[in-house]
Amino acid sequence: MLKGTFPIEKFKALQTPFYYYDTDLLKEALNVVKTEAGKYNYQIHYAVKANANPRILSIIAEAGLGADCVSGGEISASLRAGFPASKIVFAGVGKADWEIELGLDNNIFCFNVESAAELAIINEIAGVKGKVASVALRINPEIDAHTHAKITTGMKENKFGINIGQLNGVLADLKQMEHVKLIGIHFHIGSQITDLSSFQALAIRANEILEELEAKGFKIDNVNFGGGLGIDYHHPNHLPIAAFDNYFAVINKLLEQRPGLQVHFEPGRSIVGPCGSLISKVLYVKEGETKNFAILDAGFTELIRPAMYDAYHRIENISGDEEVEVYDVVGPICESSDVFGKDVELNKAHRGDLIALRSAGAYGEIMASQYNCRKLPASYFSDTL
Ligand code: LLP
Repeated sequence: MLKGTFPIEKFKALQTPFYYYDTDLLKEALNVVKTEAGKYNYQIHYAVKANANPRILSIIAEAGLGADCVSGGEISASLRAGFPASKIVFAGVGKADWEIELGLDNNIFCFNVESAAELAIINEIAGVKGKVASVALRINPEIDAHTHAKITTGMKENKFGINIGQLNGVLADLKQMEHVKLIGIHFHIGSQITDLSSFQALAIRANEILEELEAKGFKIDNVNFGGGLGIDYHHPNHLPIAAFDNYFAVINKLLEQRPGLQVHFEPGRSIVGPCGSLISKVLYVKEGETKNFAILDAGFTELIRPAMYDAYHRIENISGDEEVEVYDVVGPICESSDVFGKDVELNKAHRGDLIALRSAGAYGEIMASQYNCRKLPASYFSDTL
């Protein structure tokens, strides 16, 4: 059974569960995304929601990426980590007044506006400050991302963005507003998208919308395709880098060139997902009547994706090399959904074995909770451990 490489001896001295980040892999992903995006002069804003660990953020900021934020807290964390305000975009359906003020006070690059109501408030708050906010309209492109329903965002029934049918009304409003300046359009159709045809459809839809806006006399300088590129959760050892090359190539092929048009992306998972693992310990092996359970000291409090989205994470017994047996791998939380995987093949497990839940770098640590009065776990990095 091929496994990831981990400093097991060092792990033995640490209190489990904890997050472990391979910083070499993170840096490699950053190099690849920069090289591939650089081929077409695309700008990358890392989606901070995927992982806002300060060390991770500062490595990403140092690599020169911008930041995509969805809250005032994320804007502050990004600024602290060294992202320049001029590379921060701010999305979200429910921006509070103080968050809009924070963005304006720091002169962030752009507000990705999700409704007519929000646009009016940004105009009002910017007016009080005597400022002009740069805005991009987040348009709901009505494209199916073919991913889990809970992480699909680009359909009419989703709460995100401005529906195409309502765009004209918002544009009419915009013409009357003095404290907002339309600089672009923004899309985000969903997450963990592995079928690139959804991005093909998005590029084609963007062409249509850009054409329509131009015909109406709006000069659009920026188009932001959001995030969503998926990673290979099943083969983290063979395919640790997301398919950035194909992703950007698809957009480049189908998006019509327009003079001065700057293209942006907001990848989160594809940058940080593969580099992180949740490391846990087997507390008990429980032999049931029909199943064997490997009961870990980590639960959905540390990695909620399997419970919340039925997500698959590869699970490895990194202490063991005995013959493979089949277990339901579960956590200690008092909820039946606290299951990391059913019928998982693991090298025979014993109390005390270290278990790695792979590809936990995105939406792992950041979604941790203290349910059952559990402590938030520590995080360690390959280059400083
Ligand atoms: N931009 C916007 C506007 C977004 O809403 C998101 C993710 C991203 C970018 C980054 O998407 P990514 O490249 O990471 O797919 N907790 C879920 C994922 C939720 C994604 C929400 N929005 C999960 O664990 O699968």
